[in-house]
Amino acid sequence: MTIHNISRIAVIGAGLMGHGIAQEFASAGYHVHLHDVTDEQLQTARTQIEKNLDVFAENAIIEKENIPSTLQRIQTTTELTTVAENADFVIEAVTENLPLKQQIFEELDTICPPHTILASNTTALMPSQIGVNAKRKDQILNTHYFNPPYLIPLVELIRSPDTSDETVETTFELLTDIGKTPAIIEKEVLGFVGPRLQAALIREAFAIVERGIASAETVDLVVRNSFGRRLSVAGPFEVFELAGWDLVLAAFEELYKDLNSSDDLNPLLRQMVESGKLGVKSKEGFYEWTDEKVQALRDKMNQALIQQAKDV
Ligand SMILES: NC(=O)c1ccc[n+]([C@@H]2O[C@H](COP(=O)([O-])OP(=O)(O)OC[C@H]3O[C@@H](n4cnc5c(N)ncnc54)[C@H](O)[C@@H]3O)[C@@H](O)[C@H]2O)c1
Repeated sequence: MTIHNISRIAVIGAGLMGHGIAQEFASAGYHVHLHDVTDEQLQTARTQIEKNLDVFAENAIIEKENIPSTLQRIQTTTELTTVAENADFVIEAVTENLPLKQQIFEELDTICPPHTILASNTTALMPSQIGVNAKRKDQILNTHYFNPPYLIPLVELIRSPDTSDETVETTFELLTDIGKTPAIIEKEVLGFVGPRLQAALIREAFAIVERGIASAETVDLVVRNSFGRRLSVAGPFEVFELAGWDLVLAAFEELYKDLNSSDDLNPLLRQMVESGKLGVKSKEGFYEWTDEKVQALRDKMNQALIQQAKDV
């Protein structure tokens, strides 16, 4: 199986991630079959894709005249069999629920042609867990996108011990072909690389707030205006190689003993969830949220990401 055999992509789950993944493959010229459980969700996904493409055209990332043909390449259906029986490559982006993903992979394994590669966009689960009931274990891996998938270039490719080199190579080539930056994660582990690093950061951020060292607002202010700026141009190893590992060793020797290394979730996190302070969803978290404030933050983030996409 090589990239030359791939023309039809199936995306299972048309939510926040699925619609964006479908949009990207269609923009790159692939035929996409998008599946979800209700027609309403599929219609919402189509409307959102149209909006995204309009914003891309307004920002000169794509040509406006290409939008109708891109949209025509996306078909939607609530029938899993219709999507799966002709697919060359499947990306599953349904709700993060292991039994649900396992069941979908089992069904896909039965319905899809023998050459089809099955990929999951799970945030943290391992491909060997998701594909446990499927026979084609050598053709299963994770393709972990970051939100929004049409603006963040990186996709982590996570292989299980059974995933073949051919599957990894074909997936790598396919993602490169549509303009993504794939990173191969050689050993499957919960949370891969990106989510693990983000989890380490938020664990210490919670500890800082819980210990009264600084408020959540101050933590955000520090990150946004200091190392957050550097991180979009240089990774942590590049940054610290500029400083020198001798300096890092001297600085971290005492500091490490004081960092949070608890196996338990921070009590403050549990308290927030138990008291219904979920963030934007409940309009209250560390901040008070109104619809206008949420939109303003989303617009600000998207505008910055669009600028970065144009600069590439
Ligand atoms: N949101 C993120 O930032 C993000 C980033 C990377 C990866 N992910 C992962 O991507 C996946 C999807 O996340 P999301 O944020 O798009 O969630 P979402 O809730 O926006 O979308 C999930 C979609 O799956 C659909 N669905 C549920 N059961 C289904 C079934 N049996 N068949 C078909 N469709 C079904 C739902 O109707 C919904 O539209 C999850 O595994 C998540 O962990 C999310």
